[in-house]
Amino acid sequence: MTRIQGSKYSGIIVAAGKGERFGGYKQLVKINGRTIVHEVIDRFARCGIDELILVVRRDILPYFTYLKDLYSMPIKIVEGGEERGDSVYNGVKSSSYDNVLIHDAARPNITCNLINRVKNALLKYDAVVPIVPIRDTVVKVEGEEISGRVLRDKLKLVQTPQGFKKDLLLKGFDIARGKKLQFSDESTMLWDTLGISSHVVEGENLNIKITYREDLFMFRHELTAMGYDIHRLKEGGVLKIGGVVVKRGIQAVAHSDGDVVLHALIDALLSIKGEEDIGTLFPDTDVAWKNADSKVLLSKALDFVGKVDILKVDLTCILEHIKLSPFKEEIRKNIAGYLNIPKERVSFKAKTKEGVGEVGKGKAVEAFCIITYSDPV
Ligand code: CTP
Ligand code: MG
Repeated sequence: MTRIQGSKYSGIIVAAGKGERFGGYKQLVKINGRTIVHEVIDRFARCGIDELILVVRRDILPYFTYLKDLYSMPIKIVEGGEERGDSVYNGVKSSSYDNVLIHDAARPNITCNLINRVKNALLKYDAVVPIVPIRDTVVKVEGEEISGRVLRDKLKLVQTPQGFKKDLLLKGFDIARGKKLQFSDESTMLWDTLGISSHVVEGENLNIKITYREDLFMFRHELTAMGYDIHRLKEGGVLKIGGVVVKRGIQAVAHSDGDVVLHALIDALLSIKGEEDIGTLFPDTDVAWKNADSKVLLSKALDFVGKVDILKVDLTCILEHIKLSPFKEEIRKNIAGYLNIPKERVSFKAKTKEGVGEVGKGKAVEAFCIITYSDPV
C-alpha cells in the first residue's frame, strides 16, 4: 500500500457493535431526525479529517453505503470484528495516513474542538486520549455494603476520539492479538502491550457514549413543525373547526369536510416527515377523500408519521364574525384526544383579521399550527 506521509488524519468510526446493553443497534437509532452514526460521520466530515473509515457490521452495510454516497470526502467501509478491538484493528489496517483518530459511533456529541485538541496533541505525542473527571463520589462495594472509599482525584474517565501514530498502534495490536488479549480501549492496550503511556487532553462532558437506552434522553432536542391551511367560505352545510361544528348555514369550500384547523394540524404532522402538505397524501383528485371527515385524514396522517413524542401543539384559527371562544375547550380536548396527549399540551387561539383581506371580510377561514416534538426514546 502506498503510504502518504505528513500530518494527515484518518478518522476511524467504529460502528460494528451489537448494542447488547442498549437492546439493539444503537448506532442506527435516530435522535433529532438523524441516525446516531450519521451525526458522527457528519461532524467528522466537517472537522478537517482527510479520510473516514467506517467500521460496520455486514448486515447493515447497505445503510453505510448510502451514507458514504452523501459525502464527497474519501470514505472507506470496512467490516468489523467480534470484539471492539478487532473492529478497530480492521479500521486501522485500512488507513491511508500516519495518524489515526478512533471514535465510537455511539458518541454523537463529538465536536471539532475536541477533534482538534486530539489532532494538535498528536503532532507532539504518539498516543493521545481525552479524559474527563469523575463527578460522583467513588466507593468500593462488597455484597450490598460500601466497603471503602476511593480517592477519585487521580481517577479519570476515558473518552474517544483517541489519536495514535498508526505504526505504533499496529505494533501494540500485533502483541495483543498474538496473546489474544482484549481491551475496551486502545490506550490501555498500548499500556499493557508496549508500556506506552498516552498523553491526556481534556475531554468533554457532553461527549458521552450511548450505552443504555435511557442515555438517549440526554440527546433529545425539541424540533418544530409548522402547518397552515385556508378555505373559502360559502353558504349552506356546517362549519367544522377542530372537530366541532361551530356554525350551521355556512361551510368551508373543500374536497373533504374542510376542517381548516385539522388540516393545518395534518400539514404540521406531515412536515415532521419532510412531506410537502395534505394535498400530497390526500390529493383532491382522489374521490376517496370527497367530503371525507378530517378526523379520518388525521388518523391516516398519524399512521404515516409513526412514533413521535408530541410536546406541544399550538393552534391559531382566524375567522371573522363567528366567535370561537365558546368552543375553545372542546377543540383542545378533541385535538388532545386525537393525538393521545394531555389537553395541557394543546393551545388554541381564535383571532379575527380586523377586516383585512378576504379572511377579514368573512369570505375565508385560515389556521396555523406549530408542533413541538422530539424523537421517541
Ligand atoms: N464496536 C465495534 N465492534 C465491536 C464492538 C463494538 O465497532 N465488535 C463499536 C460500537 O459500535 C460502538 C463502540 O465500539 O460504537 C463502543 O462500544 P460499545 O459502547 O460497547 O457498543 P456495543 O458493543 O455495540 O454495545 P454492547 O457492548 O452493549 O453490546
Ligand atoms: Mg461493546
